[in-house]
Amino acid sequence: QNSYYNEPYRPQYHFSQEANWMNDPNGMVYYEGEYHLFYQYHPNSTHWGPMNWGHAVSRDLVHWEHLPIALKPDENGYVFSGSAVVDWNNTSGLGTDPQNPPLIAIFTHAKDKQVQSLAYSNDKGRTWEMYKGNPIMANTPSADWRDPKVFWYDGTKTWVMILAAGQKAMLYTSPNLKEWNYVSEFGKPNGAADGVWECPDLFALPVDGDSNRKKWVLTVSINNGAVAGGSGMQYFVGDFDGTKFTNDNPASSVLWADYGADFYAGVTWSDAPNNNDNRLWLGWMSNWQYANDTPTSTWRSAYSTVRKLELKTLPEGIRLVQKPVSQLEQLRKSVKSVYNQEILPGNKTLTDVSGDTLEIVAEFQVNSNTTADEFGFKVRKGEHEQTIVGYNRKKSSLFVDRSQSGSSNFNDQFAKVHAAPLTVQNQKVKMHIFVDRSSAEVFGNDGEKVITDQIFPDASSVGVELYAANGKVSLDSLQIYSLDKVWKK
Ligand code: FRU
Repeated sequence: QNSYYNEPYRPQYHFSQEANWMNDPNGMVYYEGEYHLFYQYHPNSTHWGPMNWGHAVSRDLVHWEHLPIALKPDENGYVFSGSAVVDWNNTSGLGTDPQNPPLIAIFTHAKDKQVQSLAYSNDKGRTWEMYKGNPIMANTPSADWRDPKVFWYDGTKTWVMILAAGQKAMLYTSPNLKEWNYVSEFGKPNGAADGVWECPDLFALPVDGDSNRKKWVLTVSINNGAVAGGSGMQYFVGDFDGTKFTNDNPASSVLWADYGADFYAGVTWSDAPNNNDNRLWLGWMSNWQYANDTPTSTWRSAYSTVRKLELKTLPEGIRLVQKPVSQLEQLRKSVKSVYNQEILPGNKTLTDVSGDTLEIVAEFQVNSNTTADEFGFKVRKGEHEQTIVGYNRKKSSLFVDRSQSGSSNFNDQFAKVHAAPLTVQNQKVKMHIFVDRSSAEVFGNDGEKVITDQIFPDASSVGVELYAANGKVSLDSLQIYSLDKVWKK
């Protein structure tokens, strides 16, 4: 049976669960050739409710196989967000076979208060046992105390946990994944002022690809008060000595991981093959402002493309850059290429292109001959709808305008423009855009700035336009691919 998911708005190449409600990605871990992806899941409704961990695996981060629910609510409460690791040396003692280290999931159990618990698998993540000694961390210090992310720190040969507590992250260490000692915390006044912290992560990355020069990145989701309204993700760059994270930048500086409204709860894969060089993550493509109200019927929510994270020195400092993983290139079907063209208002270059699953790779030349105020693409264009992915020269900003993108009446904050500051570099503005049935993601200047937005256009709105407003701009190169569907029922 080879039919594809085909409901209105159903993502065709982004990950979505078969049915019902999904929020945060959880427990991402790589083991024996498989990328595991778990997710906050309510199997009985398209609204948030008693949380389970749904489960899927992939060998290429593009094609996913749905597996049975991994963790279900029990006497300790709902199964909230958390992480998973391979316990290579069986420090937990929960492994049964030295050739086959256990996978350990550590997550929040939520009932009248939030506590941390453990579950383990000795069969490559196919079945999971709740640990008999749950909860492993029961001394709840504050009402919000959740979303543990665990990693091995080689410097002191110890496990480290970072978790969210109100407007800060708390750090703990453990020799065995079961007993944890508080070591430090990091939080306000660092970063954006509003919102409760959720789903933190902490990892080292080489700066500019130099493995002798590493910096630590602390990422965290905040709800509310993010750059595009509602929930979103910020990050910090600094150092970590095994117990304490220190911020390189002034407390008041705010770095956003994504400038769209729909990138939340992103955390990185544990034990992925190239984790010392880069990190892989994806985010929940939604926003708590309207997550429960989006106009889909049998399922609700999807994840972003999987992105590769690196640190790069930019004029303003060391920054996180994100690129879609190269594995996505296998989905490219037909292509239209355009080189060295002057774009003027009324341009007709793309009248022969259409689609609801597109990848657009474009490089514009911006110099003293450029007179356009604005240029870029209109995608998912219909008679009364369009989503604009553009560059505004006066504001020096990359933006996604979803104010006329389609259905938006479910929330009065939805129909907006989301912009990210982006400077012209070497006379170039680059846009790498992914369009699907209900999303648009744009990576600006090789992933320096990213905007992720849901959109809900009519199925008939499949037009594409290349545009320049109030003047001209030169297009150096453009490839537009239509992308293959991956989701078989
Ligand atoms: C983030 C979050 C987490 C929590 C989970 C509950 O979106 O609120 O903090 O663990 O969702 O589903």
